[in-house]
Amino acid sequence: MEYRHSPVLLAEVLQQLKLQPGSIAVDCTLGGAGHARRIADSIAPTGTLVGIDQDDAALIAAADTLRLGQQIILLKGNFADLDRLLVEASIPYADAILFDLGVSSPQLDMPERGFSYHHDAPLDMRMDPEGGGPTAADVVDQYSQAQLTRVIREYGEERWASRIAAFIVAARGRRPIATTFELVQVIKDAIPASARRGGPHPARRTFQALRIEVNQEIEVLDGAIRAAVRWLAPGGRVAVIAYHSLEDRVIKTVFNELARGCTCPPDLPVCVCGRVPVLRIVTRKAIVPTADEIENNPRSRSAKLRVAEKV
Ligand SMILES: C[S@@+](CC[C@H](N)C(=O)[O-])C[C@H]1O[C@@H](n2cnc3c(N)ncnc32)[C@H](O)[C@@H]1O
Repeated sequence: MEYRHSPVLLAEVLQQLKLQPGSIAVDCTLGGAGHARRIADSIAPTGTLVGIDQDDAALIAAADTLRLGQQIILLKGNFADLDRLLVEASIPYADAILFDLGVSSPQLDMPERGFSYHHDAPLDMRMDPEGGGPTAADVVDQYSQAQLTRVIREYGEERWASRIAAFIVAARGRRPIATTFELVQVIKDAIPASARRGGPHPARRTFQALRIEVNQEIEVLDGAIRAAVRWLAPGGRVAVIAYHSLEDRVIKTVFNELARGCTCPPDLPVCVCGRVPVLRIVTRKAIVPTADEIENNPRSRSAKLRVAEKV
């Protein structure tokens, strides 16, 4: 299968990263290399592009797409380990760093990856299947009812979270829930028929929640953004595209904290913490896709781009 992913907010990202020939750029979420290919063009012929992904399939496809004469370093890993990965890449600093969070279209569309409620497959959902971490089937099998409720409510924003969790616990007591379709059936049984009519697929929110939990997508963000900011050269920019309100909140919070500097209580007459701002927030309001982009690529609809510059 071809590794095809339409890059989201491409023109906006390229404009915001202020790339120049010779820039050192890091794409922490290479995916189908849609952004990376255009970044590589913008920094050619003397620039360096480091591309990171935790999914081997993405790296193999990117190696094909990015066959260029300039310096391109592709690394397999989780951006939670950004410091180690960039030391491995032997770059001194970065002028531009991009995070385009979440999953790629091919990951969602390859039935055997177990992300899709439209295809029957083992319930996996790991972006890095070789990493050995727990699968969605492990989460569904091992989490308590309270833990499942929390995950499905928080990460899926699913109003039927506690009923779905209760139905999962009852169903797994009869036999393990091992496949995507077995889980879809449990979710359909849990959501009243009247609530299932008309809306999106009833399993959409629960599948999203399990995917976020399996890949620890929210937990790794705060540390990764702080690491990225440390690697930026003065004037360098970090751009983050988030697709989930919780992700966007983490980005906003970290950016605001790093842009504020001083954390002393407001009633102290002088600063005693000594912290200085390390970031200038470029996008006070997040940049979102145009109606045209959403129509051409519905998966872009929840995207929010935030950009900050190292001072
Ligand atoms: C939305 S896609 C990126 C698409 C890419 N910008 C393009 O234009 O084709 C996200 C990619 O990031 C990867 N990814 C997500 N979280 C990651 C993490 N913590 N560490 C490394 N890669 C990650 C996924 O495997 C996926 O390939």
